[in-house]
Amino acid sequence: MLDVSIPLMGNLSRARNFFLHSLLIAVIVLLTACGGTSETTFDDQGVNRTAFDWQLPASVPLPFEPENNPMTEAKFQLGRHLFFDRRLSGNGEQSCADCHQQNIGFTDGLVVSVGSTGDLHPRNAQPLLNVAYNATLTWANPSLVTLEQQILVPLFGEFPVEQGINDGNREEVLDRLRDEPRYQTLFAEAYPELGDPIDYENIVKAIASFVRGMVSFNSDFDRYERGQSSALSASAQQGRKLFFGEELECFHCHGGYNLSDSTFDRTMTFIERPFHNTGLFNINGTGDFPSNNQGVFEITEDPADMGKFRAPSLRNIALTAPYMHDGSLVSLEEVIDFYAAGGRNIESGPHAGDGRLNPFKDGFVTGFDITEQEKADLIAFLNSLTDETFLTNERFSDPWSTL
Ligand code: HEC
Ligand code: HEC
Repeated sequence: MLDVSIPLMGNLSRARNFFLHSLLIAVIVLLTACGGTSETTFDDQGVNRTAFDWQLPASVPLPFEPENNPMTEAKFQLGRHLFFDRRLSGNGEQSCADCHQQNIGFTDGLVVSVGSTGDLHPRNAQPLLNVAYNATLTWANPSLVTLEQQILVPLFGEFPVEQGINDGNREEVLDRLRDEPRYQTLFAEAYPELGDPIDYENIVKAIASFVRGMVSFNSDFDRYERGQSSALSASAQQGRKLFFGEELECFHCHGGYNLSDSTFDRTMTFIERPFHNTGLFNINGTGDFPSNNQGVFEITEDPADMGKFRAPSLRNIALTAPYMHDGSLVSLEEVIDFYAAGGRNIESGPHAGDGRLNPFKDGFVTGFDITEQEKADLIAFLNSLTDETFLTNERFSDPWSTL
């Protein structure tokens, strides 16, 4: 049984929260679809190593795996097919991969995403890589902590509609999948112990397994950290020093092997789930962010959480413009100028206000002086975080296109 009861239910009171309805539906869907879990054997780290090869370098710890959805290659491959399948949407017009495209780091290149029926998402699509290591999921939700929970949102969410599966079409969507001969085999392989495994619980578990398995540690930066000093140019090495230095402060929030302070894995006993206000807005000097995008405040309603977002991993950052939760910064150069100024001053229009003075701004965003050369060095470093092999790796590519 999937654990879908946790997110938001306890602390949510705002009717406008766009996750609530989707989760209610999903709880009903999944509670009626009770399934068994696979019989698997675990080693002392709790990993079913024989069934799934993470393909991780030795220096990288294994990500967490939920007990009720252990990784298997069969689920990963089924999830891959579902991720790239538009039939898994109400109107048959959108798959996960439409908003998460492999060649651009599994983002969509848009300022904000567009759902299957034309709804605008308030936020910029996030890149998918090493998501298994994120202590929370999405831009700003402290209670969304497993992929099994998160995937319900694009599938069933109504505010906005993404893939648009609802009470009216959910059986039709399942019938579409049942009509596909490949799924007859793939579901049976992934869930051999179940009689009729084509249901939403098993769909969600399989997609979660695929996304969990999307790991990437093959950038020039990784090679440099593993001891190959020629992997970074002299300029990128300078940029690396700036990035990890106390003047620019980037590493406080984007540090560690996944370049995010919101990272957890099997070696950790204590999980931190930090969020930060970087001073993007300060509407009318009150600290406010635009009403459709107020960060963790939307969940907790605690004024101190206004404008707080998760520091994303910066892996593949050169590929995933535009930047920030609302896609409002167009280039890495703009991002660096933003941090150098210590926030963003918007002089006119409905969002006018000096973000540099936002009362909830994080103490590590204070601004700094930076020369053109240093900026170029920092960008060279950020470019070194791209894993080219991840963009073409067939394990993560569209399995239908080879038919
Ligand atoms: C309409 C475009 C769209 C579709 C379709 C879509 N996503 Fe996303 N995805 C987004 C956006 C936008 C976000 C950021 C959401 C937020 O912060 O509220 C996101 C966030 C995520 C995250 C969180 C990543 C992180 O670093 O925390 C995961 C995982 C994810 N999507 C997986 C999927 C999967 C799997 C599917 C298919 C079941 C899917 N998405 C379908 C646009 C989309
Ligand atoms: C106080 C913590 C903090 C510090 C310090 C910090 N960042 Fe960030 N960073 C964040 C958060 C939080 C976001 C997301 C903000 C948002 O979307 O509103 C972010 C977003 C970004 C993004 C955009 C990511 C994306 O996927 O759109 C880039 C690039 C970035 N930071 C680079 C840097 C660099 C370079 C530095 C140092 C000059 C730095 N950051 C310092 C917390 C921080």
